[in-house]
Amino acid sequence: MEKLIEQLEKEMAGAFQACGYDAKYARVTLSDRPDLCEFQCNGALTAAKEYKKAPLVIAKEVTEKLAESEVFSCAEAVKPGFLNLHIRESFLAGYLCHMQQEKNYGNEKTRAPKTIIIDYGGPNVAKPLHVGHLRSAVIGESIKRMGRYVGHRMIGDVHMGDWGLQMGLIITELQQRRPELIYYDDSFMGEYPREAPFTISELEEIYPAASARSKEDAAYKERAMQATHELQQGRRGYRALLQHILDVSVADLKKNYETLNVSFDLWKGESDAQPYIPAMVKKLKEEGHAYLSDGALVVDVREQTDTKPVPPCMILKSDGASLYNTTDLATIVQRMEGYSPNEIIYVVDKRQELYFTQIFRCARKTGLVGADTRLTFLGFGTMNGKNGKPFKTREGGVMRLSALLQEVHEKVYQKILENGTMSVQQAEETAKIIALSAVKYGDLSNQASKDYIFDVDRFTAFEGNTGPYLLYTVVRIKSILNKYEQTGKNAEKGRILPAASPSEKELMLEAARFNGMIAGAFEELAPHRVCAYLYGLANAFNHFYHETRILTQEDAGRQDSYIQLLRLCKGIMESCMEVLGFSAPDRM
Ligand code: ARG
Repeated sequence: MEKLIEQLEKEMAGAFQACGYDAKYARVTLSDRPDLCEFQCNGALTAAKEYKKAPLVIAKEVTEKLAESEVFSCAEAVKPGFLNLHIRESFLAGYLCHMQQEKNYGNEKTRAPKTIIIDYGGPNVAKPLHVGHLRSAVIGESIKRMGRYVGHRMIGDVHMGDWGLQMGLIITELQQRRPELIYYDDSFMGEYPREAPFTISELEEIYPAASARSKEDAAYKERAMQATHELQQGRRGYRALLQHILDVSVADLKKNYETLNVSFDLWKGESDAQPYIPAMVKKLKEEGHAYLSDGALVVDVREQTDTKPVPPCMILKSDGASLYNTTDLATIVQRMEGYSPNEIIYVVDKRQELYFTQIFRCARKTGLVGADTRLTFLGFGTMNGKNGKPFKTREGGVMRLSALLQEVHEKVYQKILENGTMSVQQAEETAKIIALSAVKYGDLSNQASKDYIFDVDRFTAFEGNTGPYLLYTVVRIKSILNKYEQTGKNAEKGRILPAASPSEKELMLEAARFNGMIAGAFEELAPHRVCAYLYGLANAFNHFYHETRILTQEDAGRQDSYIQLLRLCKGIMESCMEVLGFSAPDRM
């Protein structure tokens, strides 16, 4: 179904053409001056040049053709040639009725669906998720959902860090503690046990212990590096241990992501890309892209227009070991072979931007990525504490994601208990839902590339531009609808009538803008635009609600219409929340 603005433009184009002017001048936009009009058209100003007439004259001619318009209730020509527009209430109501009947409220699926891999989450196995991992998960999940809403085939890949020194550290520390384990016996040729020799809590304790020790004990670190190397060379026992580490970690990660309402289609990691490395390196060498520099194998990725130095992309270290770079390039090969995607989007900390510039250029230059495949870096800013510095625990350490979520949960839970309308059990459940919205909306409502301050008090407030406020608005609508239905009425036959008040019209205008909004936001990979829309709609609703008698409305037709409008707004708000990755409870 056409967007509202497109229908307005059509009407305007008709008027321009009826006056003998080209339809291209009939562009309609939201008003810059909402105090004067709802929409505007500045086409007369540009048309003036082509037709050598005063813009105001053109604008006046156009308004005459719109005098009887069913779309505009008022089209006014003002100096120096603007067209100020008001939409006709009956037209707007008709538009909303149409939206109501259409699937997804008129949002059509894209005619050109793409296969898009989205690389987000990026946890490092055996290390607990910390606050630095929150943004990638939250933003990536929302981009994935937006893409799906628009009709693309979105494939989310968690791309775990499971190939670095942390693996060697764990292997070394475990050997220290339990040298008798069969995995360390080189002569063992049988099948390794199915059961992992550790639990997740043991694993989470082993890694930091090993990491701390390696910083003090050079020989220990040397052994860990050796173990990493042997693992990467394919030592059987170490591979088996890696598999155990992965199994135990993935089970735990899945649980953690689930509490965030985040899920992945692919649970691939850096280690999965390793089999692609040898052939890739061979190709890069044979085709003359890669050369030796101080013993390391590199590919130049400088470009003439560079204003800052872009260092060569290193493919192999001088000892032949692969790097983070190698893995990312091999992952591109793997993804091209497996899915031939139209695009790969990386949702990663923006401090890795230069790194991804190197990777993208290298992949492009060497033909690892198809000419038609887009590579997109969506870099996000840092999540800071109230002091404006990267978020830390009170003791100044790295904060675990679970601890942060717990803190938010606790805050919300206390608030609900204070309200005193829920049982402890209900409050617990509801707090979960609200806390999630607080965290996610607090993040997503900022432009992704900007740093932001994680302010628990502000994010959990039930008023203002917050997740809980939006949830509260939906809960309010649900409660009105419930009360209405309890009276035995259903408004099934009712139609949305032309707005009877300015606040109702404002609400209807906001609701009408939903059609096409998510597609536009996805185009820019901008969940914050969905947030801004949602907030605007919630404000318009609450304004309308405070000025309108809904449940005590005597005119039955009018009441039916209000109920229909409420149902539509609720549906739209829930759709927006769904793509942002949270939802509203029934009560709060
Ligand atoms: N594991 C990485 C980190 O913690 C993020 C991975 C990002 N994705 C990628 N394809 N490199 O920094």
